[in-house]
Amino acid sequence: MVDVTTLSNYQAFDLKQGSLHIDVDFPAKVIHGHVTYELTVVEAATSELVLDTSYLKINSVSVNGSDDATFKLRDRVEPLGSALVIDLGHSVLPGETVKVVVEYDSTTDGTALQFLDKEVTDGKKAPYLFSQCQAIHARAMVPCFDTPSVKTPYKLTATSPHQVLMSGRPEKVEKNDDGTSTYFFDQPVPIPLYLLTIASGDIVGAPIGPRSTIYSEPAGIKAAQWEFEADMENFLQIAERLVFAYEWGNYDALVLPSSFPYGGMENPNCTFLTPTLICKDRSSVLVVAHELAHSWSGNLVTLKDWSNFWLNEGWTVYLERRIQEGIAIAEAKREGRPDPEAYGALMRSFHAIIGWNALENLIEALGPDADRYLKLVLDLTSNDDPDDSFSSVPYEKGLSLLVHIEQTLGKKAFDGFIPHYFKKYRYRSVDTKDFLDTLYEYFGDRKADLDGIDWDLWLHQPGLPPKPKFDTTLADECYALAKKWHAATEDGDYSKFSKDDIAQFDPNQLVVFLDTMMAYNTDKWSWSKHSDALKAFEEAYPEYSTTHNAEILFRHYMLQVSAHRSKFMERMGEWLGTVGRMKYVRPAYVLLNKVDHKVAVEYFKKWLHTYHPICRTLVKKDLGL
Ligand code: BES
Ligand code: ZN
Repeated sequence: MVDVTTLSNYQAFDLKQGSLHIDVDFPAKVIHGHVTYELTVVEAATSELVLDTSYLKINSVSVNGSDDATFKLRDRVEPLGSALVIDLGHSVLPGETVKVVVEYDSTTDGTALQFLDKEVTDGKKAPYLFSQCQAIHARAMVPCFDTPSVKTPYKLTATSPHQVLMSGRPEKVEKNDDGTSTYFFDQPVPIPLYLLTIASGDIVGAPIGPRSTIYSEPAGIKAAQWEFEADMENFLQIAERLVFAYEWGNYDALVLPSSFPYGGMENPNCTFLTPTLICKDRSSVLVVAHELAHSWSGNLVTLKDWSNFWLNEGWTVYLERRIQEGIAIAEAKREGRPDPEAYGALMRSFHAIIGWNALENLIEALGPDADRYLKLVLDLTSNDDPDDSFSSVPYEKGLSLLVHIEQTLGKKAFDGFIPHYFKKYRYRSVDTKDFLDTLYEYFGDRKADLDGIDWDLWLHQPGLPPKPKFDTTLADECYALAKKWHAATEDGDYSKFSKDDIAQFDPNQLVVFLDTMMAYNTDKWSWSKHSDALKAFEEAYPEYSTTHNAEILFRHYMLQVSAHRSKFMERMGEWLGTVGRMKYVRPAYVLLNKVDHKVAVEYFKKWLHTYHPICRTLVKKDLGL
C-alpha cells in the first residue's frame, strides 16, 4: 500500500540518515535550511529522487558532491504541495547509495511555521518561532519524504539569536561572531518527519523531575514548573511498568504561546504544550501523560499512514488512562483507602465517561453526512487533508476498542500483550492489519474469543460502537444535579440552587456536570428557550466565571451561548482572542455561527491574525468562508 498523502517516491529508497541545519531569520519570518540525506536504492534502479515540498523556495541541489544537479518543482496540487524532482544524473542501482543535499528557504505562505512578533509574546522582549508538522506540514519546513512510513535518525542544528529547542537530545551550543548561537541536537532513534520540531525565542527551563525539564517564557516558568513537577516522574515510572523502559533519554516539554493550535504535541525530547494547561490546580496534567505515552505509541511504533491514525491516538489514550489509573492507585494507597485497585478502576471509568460523552457529542454535532469521518480506519484519498478528519473518533472509539479487547481477554492477559506489541514493532511503522495479526498470533489459544469481536463493525462502520459498561459512581452526582436543573425549567423556580451544590466536585466532575447540561440541547429541547435558567445558573455558581481552568471556562461559555445569552457571546468572543487551541476555538466558532453568523464572522475577522495558519484554515472551512 502506498501512502496517498505524499507525492514522493519514498518506496524506491531506504533512508539511512538525515541531517538538517536551519538558520532562523526573524526579520524575514522564514528559515534558510539545508538538508542532507543518505539514501540507498531498494528493489528497482531509479534516476530520480522525488521529495515533498510545500511553499518552499529551492536554491540548489547537490548529488554525491556535485553542486549543479538538475531539479524541478512540479505544479502545486492541493493539499499535498509541490513535488521536488531531483535528477540523480544516472540510473542508480539497487544497493547503491546517493548523498543528496538541498538548500532551500521557507516562505510566509507555508503552514508548518509560525513566527510571532515580540509584541504578542508574554515577555515582549524577543520574537518567537515554533513549528507544527503533524500531520502533513513537515514538507513546508524541509523537502522530505513526508510520510510516517519512513523513519530515520537525524542530526539537527539551528542558528538563531534566541534559545532553540528541537526534536532531539541537546548536545552543545556554539556562539557565533554575529551574536547568534548554533544549537546542536542528536536524534538517534529513527523518527518520522511529522515529529520534526523547532522552537526559538526567549525560552528558559526548570526541572520537573530527575529526567525532565519544563521550558517556557521566563514570566511563566515558575507556574509551569509547579503545574507538572508533582506528576512527571510518576507518569514516567508507571508508563515504564506498563510498557518498557523509556528510550529517548530525557523527557522535556515546552509551554508555547497561546496560538499553539493543539493541547499537546508529542515532539520527541520536546513535547509541545498549550498554555491553557497552566490552570493552577494541576487538573490538566493528563495531557502530559498522553504526550508521554506517545513515546511508545506513535513515536516508537508509528502509524504507516494517516488512515491508521487510531493506532497512534487510540493506543495513546489507552496508555494515558492506564497511567492515570496507576496514579489513582498510588494515591489510594497513600491515603490508606481499603481497596486501591478498585479506586483506580473507578477513576479510570470516570475518565472513560468524559471521553465517551465527547464521542457522543461529536456524532450529534456532525450529523448524518459525516460517516466517512466516523470510521476507525479512515478512507483517505489524495485529495484529503488528514487535518480535516481530526476528531474524537480515533481517540475515543480507538480507546473503546482496546478496552473492549482488554475486557474480552482479561486485563492480566492483555497486560502481557502491551510490551510484546510495542517491542515487536518499535522503530517501525504499522497498520491495522499488523496490529490484528500480532494480536491473533500472541493470543493463539484464544482465537474463538477474538473471533467474537465484530471487527468489521469496530474498524470499518461509522457510528457509535456498543456502549461499554462504565462504573458511574463519580458521574452520578453530576448527572443528578444536571437533571435537577433540567427539571426546574418546568416551574422556573431556581431558588433551590446554590454554590454548595458543586462545592465537593473536583474539576473533572465540574466538566462532566457541564457536559451533561449541554447534552440536554437536542432537536426537540434547548436551553435557548430557558435562558432564565442559565442566568440563575451563572448566579448560583460564580466560580464558573472566574476559573483558570480552560476545560471548565470553555464549557461554561458554550452552555451559556447555547442559551443565546448575549453577554456570554461577547465574553466568549473576547476569550477567543486569548486562546488558539483548536479544541476550543473550532467548536466555539461553530456554535457562535449557529446562534448568530454575523457575530461569529466579526470575531473571527478580529482575531484571525492571532491564530496559527492551521487553525485559520480550519475555522474558515467551519464558517463556510
Ligand atoms: N498528536 C496529537 C496532536 C495532533 C493530532 C496534532 C493530529 C496534529 C494532528 C496529540 O498527541 C494530541 O492528541 N493532543 C490532544 C491532547 C489529548 C490529551 C487528547 C490535544 O491536542 O487536545
Ligand atoms: Zn495524541
